[in-house]
Amino acid sequence: MGKVMLEVRELTTKYITRFNEDIYAVDHVSLKVEEGKSLGIAGESGCGKSTLALSLMGYYFPPLYYTSGDIIINERNISGMDPDEVRKSILGKEIAYIPQAAMNALNPTQKVINFVEDVIHAHEPTATKKDIYDMARQRFEILGLPAEVLQKYSVELSGGMKQRTVIAISVILGPKVLIADEPSSALDVTSQKMVIKMLRDLMDRGMIKSMIFITHELPLLYNVTDDIMVMYAGQMVEHATAEQAVFDPLHPYARGLMGSIIVPESGLRGHKLAAIPGVPPNLKKPPSGCRFAERCKYVTPTCRAVSVNMREAANDREYRCIFAEQELREMYKNE
Ligand SMILES: Nc1ncnc2c1ncn2[C@@H]1O[C@H](COP(=O)(O)OP(=O)(O)O)[C@@H](O)[C@H]1O
Ligand SMILES: [Mg+2]
Repeated sequence: MGKVMLEVRELTTKYITRFNEDIYAVDHVSLKVEEGKSLGIAGESGCGKSTLALSLMGYYFPPLYYTSGDIIINERNISGMDPDEVRKSILGKEIAYIPQAAMNALNPTQKVINFVEDVIHAHEPTATKKDIYDMARQRFEILGLPAEVLQKYSVELSGGMKQRTVIAISVILGPKVLIADEPSSALDVTSQKMVIKMLRDLMDRGMIKSMIFITHELPLLYNVTDDIMVMYAGQMVEHATAEQAVFDPLHPYARGLMGSIIVPESGLRGHKLAAIPGVPPNLKKPPSGCRFAERCKYVTPTCRAVSVNMREAANDREYRCIFAEQELREMYKNE
């Protein structure tokens, strides 16, 4: 087993609304990412993916609050750490985060090199402009971005180029873990491919030590990540290798997310997913039984009555369902 870069144990976090209601958007989530590995997180919009990303970096600002659980980054437990301390000593260096729609958040009055300077100065206040430029140029070129980009304003870059620039800036300090939140979702197909290739290059060249790739499209993860975790209504429902999660999902929801896809490689991404009827439960009042029960075609009265924990299946995988692995396989066979 490789060195563990990030370990999260039973992490629970919540939003507190203006009306003082609790929304448990991340409910007892556990995960581990080893050196050289990437973990994909998939699930419909609103299931808690972005909240999980913020939570596992220890980045808590109202209305988001830490409730319980452990977050260990590079052998250091950061749960309960002051968010300002997290910003100073964790973000960028230990863990880098590319927020959803990051490319649109770049300040249009700044040149790309200014963003790079900000990131580096936060950690190395004495670095000279020349050192920073030389280092940035070298890094950008390794990643296939021309050095001219450094002198441009973000508005002068195309969407795909902007996103790759954001990624290059985020990883400039060589983080142990990179969290990319829907990094290719807003892009055209060609730019998506380039972004994904870039993320893989970062891993291959050791410019990041591990990665978490978040998307609402499960199949997209197949060629990018080693392991996949599927979330539903704030909880993990499936945790397996990419191969298992995509071609042999156990949880009925993970199966629904995959639709009818069975074609490997090229066919994967282009396929239209069959939508799962119904909507996820309200996280202010989640049902006491299985959260997917309302939408599950295999639902039984027991599903609505008892809550289910993650359980182990063969080959080191986990899922959250009252049915045993063998029972699920039988049911799927008869579909
Ligand atoms: N600032 C907020 N205040 C209250 N609730 C929020 C806030 N941001 C997100 N949520 C709730 O948390 C849940 C998870 O949201 P999010 O993590 O953004 O999901 P995803 O990234 O999977 O689309 C959603 O149901 C959403 O309503
Ligand atoms: Mg999100």
